[in-house]
Amino acid sequence: MAKEKTEMKTRIAVLVSGGGTNLQALIDAEKSGIIKSGEIVLVVSNNPDAYALKRAENAGIPSAVMTRKDCGGSREAFEEKLIATLEEAGIEMIVLAGFMSILSERFIAKYRDRIINVHPSLIPSFCGEGFYGLKVHEAALGYGVKVTGATVHFVNEIPDGGRIILQKAVAIRKGDTPEVLQKRVMQQAEWKILPRACEMVAASLKKAK
Ligand code: GAR
Repeated sequence: MAKEKTEMKTRIAVLVSGGGTNLQALIDAEKSGIIKSGEIVLVVSNNPDAYALKRAENAGIPSAVMTRKDCGGSREAFEEKLIATLEEAGIEMIVLAGFMSILSERFIAKYRDRIINVHPSLIPSFCGEGFYGLKVHEAALGYGVKVTGATVHFVNEIPDGGRIILQKAVAIRKGDTPEVLQKRVMQQAEWKILPRACEMVAASLKKAK
């Protein structure tokens, strides 16, 4: 069960699959007032072992776990269950924060301009299908770029192809490993621009109510 309705804030669901450091950044930003137009009322994980679930619990945010496997391996059945859960919670905006599954065109159309995603590179570099998590940083280091970063964008039918909301550059340093670079991109870029972009979109949805 999602949190009860409060005022007119935009009701946000955060979709996660792993550690949930971006979810934590959002939770902290809501507490500190950086996010003031929206309220995280639900966390959904497609991985029962995601540490993000613990973060949600610690923050007192209701969570739901659903896997494609539990839905007979069908994306359609998985998304139907997801939509039912989101509707029951009155969700108006969705944040993909390390959610490692591509959503269907049908799902995206239903929440058009209401889904945002954080990606750990400067789109259009190192993005699209197959570029997720550490793979993105391996690719950036493999190419030899000197600057990388993170992007928050709206989600459309093209993987990582939606309108860009915010970007932040991060310098690559000599001797960087994918793990070291991932951490720096998170600390210097993702955890900063995701909450800010979230507030921007939540505020415009709230205004449009
Ligand atoms: C983050 O770096 C996020 O940008 C990336 O996965 C990590 C999740 O970490 N997402 C993608 O690569 C999506 N294409 P977190 O669970 O600690 O937030």
